Amino acid sequence: MPIYHKLGNIPHKRHTQFRKPDGSLYYEQLFGTIGFDGMSTNSYHEQRPTQVKEIKNQYSMAPKIAKANNIQSYQFKGFQVKPENDYLDSRKTILFNNDCGIILAAPKKSITDYFYKNTDADELIFIHKGSGKLRTHLGNLDFKYGDYLLVPRGIIYKIDFDSEDNRLFIVESHRPIYTPKRYRNWFGQLLEHAPYCERDIRRPQELETHNENGDFLIKVKKQNDIIEMVYASHPFDVVGYDGYNYPYAFSIHDFEPITGRIHQPPPVHQTFETDTFVVCSFVPRLYDYHPQSIPAPYNHSNIDSDEVLYYVDGDFMSRNDIEVGHISLHPAGIPHGPHPGATERSIGQTKTEELAVMVDTFKPLQVTEEAMKIADESYFKSWI
Ligand SMILES: [Fe+2]
Repeated sequence: MPIYHKLGNIPHKRHTQFRKPDGSLYYEQLFGTIGFDGMSTNSYHEQRPTQVKEIKNQYSMAPKIAKANNIQSYQFKGFQVKPENDYLDSRKTILFNNDCGIILAAPKKSITDYFYKNTDADELIFIHKGSGKLRTHLGNLDFKYGDYLLVPRGIIYKIDFDSEDNRLFIVESHRPIYTPKRYRNWFGQLLEHAPYCERDIRRPQELETHNENGDFLIKVKKQNDIIEMVYASHPFDVVGYDGYNYPYAFSIHDFEPITGRIHQPPPVHQTFETDTFVVCSFVPRLYDYHPQSIPAPYNHSNIDSDEVLYYVDGDFMSRNDIEVGHISLHPAGIPHGPHPGATERSIGQTKTEELAVMVDTFKPLQVTEEAMKIADESYFKSWI
């Protein structure tokens, strides 16, 4: 995240002596991505962050492909994913490629008896239902409906839910997730035309520091395996840090829509970018105001992008039979567009209340066995 952030206590100079009240040294850790070239933070720990005590079970979380080389449009009924107690068990990968994974989850319980660390991917967790607190070794973030939580790879976290009724839409990215470059000036500041600004980025303000010894289980995700590692000290033992690599929250309700006289293309909805996909937010907005405008989108052929739309709330003007929690997949290589009647229905309408998250991937997605359990197999014929 290109905003400098400081939390807790740090020494004036990096890589210099920083001592505890008893005179002993704190343990410094540089925590970064893309070698030493990407975002990084410098954190100061009560104990060495390297105290591995035991490596226990290792098992695969790799999604199983049901349909590779897919060209069929699908609709997936996301709320049919069954709630499960455990956070990691509840996460079902629906679509994936070598760049990203698209996951639905309905966890009932908070993480209590382990910590989680994803070393494979940044996680963008969209909160569709539920509220609570994301607790990380670099500080905590309260969350509620409509929040995106961006957890860079390697952040150790727990998640506390206020109730058992939670629905999450998660995107895992093997490349860092950034705010779009074209929204930023050469110093990284968000520009005036950007649909949000730094004030909308919620950074951790609360740091949990536990100086404890014992057995602390971290479930580490690496190359689609979960590896259970036991550490001798509490993973949340940071007394302070500064830098650019930390978790943050952004509410979809803080996204300011960009509108025009005629239909605006999807890039106006862009919220995040990576090298390999984009994430867009469709939010309540005024429709196009040219007297002859057609608010519904035109048919379009995303010849080299798979388009995944997750429907969050409101009415979905361009689709018939879409409900909250549904996902549509319109694969690369074939055109798609409004359902029969939707174009005509849209004429004369002045605004929409729709809320949706779109992920456009630049490489094709594989459809998983978990996806097929909630798939509408006839959706691809729904334009006839
Ligand atoms: Fe589209």
